[in-house]
Amino acid sequence: MKVPQTIIHQAEKLRDEINEHNYRYYILDDPRISDAEYDQLFQKLKKLEEEYPTLITPDSPTQRVGAKPLKEFAEVTHDVPMLSLENAFSVEDVEAFDQRIHDRLKTDATIEYVCEPKLDGLAVSLRYENGVLKTAATRGDGFTGEDITENIRTIRMVPLHLRGEHFPKTIEVRGEVYMPKEGFNKLNARAEEKGEKVFVNPRNAAAGSVRQLDPRITATRPLEIFFYGIGAVDGKLPEKHSEILDLLKTWGLRVNPETKVVKGYEKCLAFHDHLQKKRSNLDYEIDGVVYKVNDIALQKELGFVSRAPRWAIAHKFPAEEVMTTVEEVEFQVGRTGALTPVARLKPVFVSGVTISNATLHNMDEVHRKDIHIGDTVVVRRAGDVIPEVVAALKQYRPKDAKKIRLPSKCPVCHSAIEHIEGEAVARCTGELFCSAQRKEAIKHFASRRAMDIEGLGDKLVDQLVNQDLIKSVADLYSLKLDELANLERMAEKSAQNILDALEKSKHTTFARFLYSLGIREVGEATAKQLAQHFGDLPGLFSATEEELQSISDIGPVVSKHIVAFFAEKHNRDVIQKLQQAGIRWEKVKKAANLPLAGKTFVLTGTLEKLTRDEAKEKLETLGAKVAGSVSAKTSYVVAGADPGSKLAKAKSLGVSVIDEREFLDMLASF
Ligand code: IVH
Repeated sequence: MKVPQTIIHQAEKLRDEINEHNYRYYILDDPRISDAEYDQLFQKLKKLEEEYPTLITPDSPTQRVGAKPLKEFAEVTHDVPMLSLENAFSVEDVEAFDQRIHDRLKTDATIEYVCEPKLDGLAVSLRYENGVLKTAATRGDGFTGEDITENIRTIRMVPLHLRGEHFPKTIEVRGEVYMPKEGFNKLNARAEEKGEKVFVNPRNAAAGSVRQLDPRITATRPLEIFFYGIGAVDGKLPEKHSEILDLLKTWGLRVNPETKVVKGYEKCLAFHDHLQKKRSNLDYEIDGVVYKVNDIALQKELGFVSRAPRWAIAHKFPAEEVMTTVEEVEFQVGRTGALTPVARLKPVFVSGVTISNATLHNMDEVHRKDIHIGDTVVVRRAGDVIPEVVAALKQYRPKDAKKIRLPSKCPVCHSAIEHIEGEAVARCTGELFCSAQRKEAIKHFASRRAMDIEGLGDKLVDQLVNQDLIKSVADLYSLKLDELANLERMAEKSAQNILDALEKSKHTTFARFLYSLGIREVGEATAKQLAQHFGDLPGLFSATEEELQSISDIGPVVSKHIVAFFAEKHNRDVIQKLQQAGIRWEKVKKAANLPLAGKTFVLTGTLEKLTRDEAKEKLETLGAKVAGSVSAKTSYVVAGADPGSKLAKAKSLGVSVIDEREFLDMLASF
């Protein structure tokens, strides 16, 4: 059916009006019409679109919800990694941060900072292409996240297309999705009425809502967003962070109104005080203030250490502390056998939740803080971290208070406890004989960042081990439907889901597999390094400590653990069984096979099309090294605009110099 021209215009006009009212309402906080009038406009548009379905565009304000539930989230690789922030807990920490900046920049000038609330939600990255929202992703591990586009679209204050015309062709904007306190309370009240599970805090509620496979559920959750930065962008942006934030606002992207530009760290501290006083009156949770160097050129000069920028810091608010008593102390056995003393407390309410356990970390801590059973103690809870006992109040110690003693036998498997002189941690020597260690190893194996076996939660693993249905992670893959269906809180359908999840988990990556083995000290980053270096298992099986130590970031301790792990016959047997069960991965492209392996690049001057970090990332993924200074070993110097002394040095040493155009062509040629 041909849609009359007048109707097309009418729909366009309605969309523009609705978008403009959204902007006035959410960004300017200055609505011009009532909610009822807004609804009328919205209904009008909806009716038109129902009558003439061909009118519907994906970025029409009526098209926020609608997609069907997903089976799983797709992966999204972040072109510019999503980093984390260093924390400051005291005035001294902030002073030191400011001092480090002065030292690195070799300047006495007062630094201008942008102070922003540290929002307690979850970080997301939204990609707009030609002004249209294309993808939205979670932070994930900082390098890859999950595609949550359909869910983010349901958040009314997220523009489906940017306002105006002067935005870059592609831009990634980064911000925090959160659930306002009021919405959280209402949501929980409703859940309680219906006898459903309530959320622990707004942050978990926001995270749970964003990670819903059914966007129609997300649409019912009161989610909001503030933007605080950008990722990849093609095109020029202003030279100050505060100006970028102002620009985001003109495009319809919501920026936190508390944000303030100040000169000097003392003013940052004053802002911290001010916001801390205001904290309880804000409608959303914050856990500190982020200070960012305002000048982007200085940010670039300062760069990054590991995964956090040198130009920003999160100054946290002090954690909330309360008093209670220690009723008992128990020892928990972890994945590597480490015994952790845990205080069972008289329940107390702190930072919005009731707590009845707190960690005492290890025996050294117990002695240092001189904690006894029966003591009145100060307990602290900060954010999502496990509550901890800060101090014992000895003046209240009852006469019958008991000393805390390290058990001589494992409380679970009764094996001997080993406490190496000079080490804080005591361990159960039972290894895989100890059901506690086995359970933890299996839980780790199944966890999201390891083999990602959906549905195989802690309670299920406990039952499987308690009933002797599995002895090692390899046994997971021979579980039968009826074995699973007969467990508590399981039925045929949920059992089948687990079997499907197990099947799905078989196709993995080498890095994930290595991480899931739970080798001591081998976290995700090390697992990735190992995968990259060895490409596959055989090389790793026979690697010596020396070879392992030649890999960057792998030191003597980790390499010892790795060699010991693969020397153990039962570990090799488990690996073999897992492979026989069908676990597989694509062979990793070894660094040596990458096109720029062995080449060293030095970047100088300002690049137009990409930031220095992006250039570095791109080079490194192609196998090249990026160095800070030019030497005879340098393969190429990439010279942007206004290159420094490095260019002269390269010329004097006869090192090849390429400009940005040639550099981009080179990158594009692989
Ligand atoms: S900037 C390179 N600004 O804090 C800078 N982060 O620890 C990266 N966060 O994952 C982040 N409020 O989820 C920035 N105003 C703010 C923030 C903020 C909250 C969170 C964010 C990030 C984490 C970093």
